Amino acid sequence: MSGSGRRRILVVEDDPEILGALSGLLEEEGYDVQSVADARDALERLRHGPTPEVIILDLMMPGMDGWEFRTIQRADPELAAIPVVAISADTSSKAAAIDATSFLRKPFRFADLLSTVEKIIDERERRRIRARLAEAERLASLGTLAAGAAHEISNPLSFTVANLETMDEQLSRLRQMTAELSARQLPEAHLLEDMKATLDDMSDLLADGRVGAERVSRVVRNLQSIARRQEEQHRLVDIRRVIESSLNLTWNQIRHRARLVKSFPDELPLIQGSEFRLGQLMLNLLVNAAQAIQEGNAQANEIRVSVRREGGSVVVEVADTGEGIAPEARPRLFEPFFTTKPAGVGTGLGLSICQSVVLEHRGAIDVDSEPGKGSLFRVTLPLPAEQRPPAVEKPVAPEPAGRRGQVIIIDDEPQLAWAMKRLLDPEHDVVAVTHGREALDRMLAGERFDVIVCDLTMPYMTGEQLYREIESRFGADVASRILFVTGGALSEEGNAFLQAVRNPLLFKPFDPAELRGQVRRVMSTQAAPAEA
Ligand SMILES: Nc1ncnc2c1ncn2[C@@H]1O[C@H](COP(=O)(O)OP(=O)(O)OP(=O)(O)O)[C@@H](O)[C@H]1O
Ligand SMILES: [Mg+2]
Repeated sequence: MSGSGRRRILVVEDDPEILGALSGLLEEEGYDVQSVADARDALERLRHGPTPEVIILDLMMPGMDGWEFRTIQRADPELAAIPVVAISADTSSKAAAIDATSFLRKPFRFADLLSTVEKIIDERERRRIRARLAEAERLASLGTLAAGAAHEISNPLSFTVANLETMDEQLSRLRQMTAELSARQLPEAHLLEDMKATLDDMSDLLADGRVGAERVSRVVRNLQSIARRQEEQHRLVDIRRVIESSLNLTWNQIRHRARLVKSFPDELPLIQGSEFRLGQLMLNLLVNAAQAIQEGNAQANEIRVSVRREGGSVVVEVADTGEGIAPEARPRLFEPFFTTKPAGVGTGLGLSICQSVVLEHRGAIDVDSEPGKGSLFRVTLPLPAEQRPPAVEKPVAPEPAGRRGQVIIIDDEPQLAWAMKRLLDPEHDVVAVTHGREALDRMLAGERFDVIVCDLTMPYMTGEQLYREIESRFGADVASRILFVTGGALSEEGNAFLQAVRNPLLFKPFDPAELRGQVRRVMSTQAAPAEA
């Protein structure tokens, strides 16, 4: 991997004096030099060792000469791309015609060699950056497309999930009623039996429906997560803690497959980032590592998680001894929906999420893998320029308040508004409206709400506009009771707004329990009203 490390150069030259002199001078210039006196050895090194940025190649050598070396190198797809500076005292046209990146006739000035090498490295670096940018752009546009699709799906999916949940609860009630009726030994007992059987069937169907909807929700959430760039608060994060909690979450998947080896230094600086997003990154890498290993032979396999500081960065590695990655899959790994796993196991979104998390932390992610041996994913995250003391943690929200709250729901999609109302009805007194204006009018007429559940993107009056109205008319305290709900990636302004107001936010499609929990949390931050 290129970057801040020393550039590697391989010098192939049979004359020990020239070899020594060249290597010494290049080393003084800060290069990491490997010197080899024999072209065969050089090939050997290239095949089994690290790849140099440039090869400096003498042409006239006993045994394998430079021309032959170059022919073999060009024919090897792994080596062909390494630039070669040929050097030779041969004045014939054969030497000048060598197919190399550059040719210098001996004797040359060292300064000329140096500038040739520098030029080649600069050009390569430029090309690499260009390629990386093009790749990032391509993935970003795929991400935008994915997010757009997810956004369209999230509303109908949200009310589908919510209604399935409500139906499930209603079904339980019906079953309870039939049980009570059965106990009364009515003459229509056979009808009741029929009803019970039908209700059981419906329960099964509903359970399947919920599993299906949950699967779709997972895909949609993942898609949104690819496009979700900045809305997570960035602050100082202890990456070890993030890794530990991701390990806890994935331990059940890991323990039957591999031994877990952790290599964490005692001292590690904090990085600037989003704990939540970095958690998603780690989780995906760990799940992938586990899934690459067959179950059942945990002692023979290993998943190694290591963290270290490297200059101005923190490097996190997740290595596994799993099946490895086929060379033809390599270029597509980070594409959304690229997966080699069966349906239901992989959606092909994990690494796209990793990529987007890494990009939003201005880091890099790369892979080494050998099919049949295992893979290593390396994430490099830059350290903040200066380390400030960690931000004070927000106190954890207290437990549910336990009293019935007055809740208003504002969502321009009527089905979703009603679906949320039905979910909250058992716990609170809920009204649902489809216009911000209607909510305001009710409040102006004296209705008081403990929690205001509000969609962010609505025609006529957006969530932000409603917030401003409420804040200016009823004060910041009332505005702080707004729980925002959003269907997908936020605009730049949406982001800035949410970061400024710090109101809670729920992403569609949400888990019904999540909505209920968030509403309870908002309630619990308020004192109970003195009078009704
Ligand atoms: N550690 C690994 N070892 C071997 N192959 C891997 C590893 N990590 C990723 N891959 C390959 O990359 C593909 C894409 O990975 P990605 O995490 O994006 O999707 P997925 O794991 O297939 O599905 P999802 O993460 O959405 O459940 C995988 O299907 C697999 O072929
Ligand atoms: Mg995955």
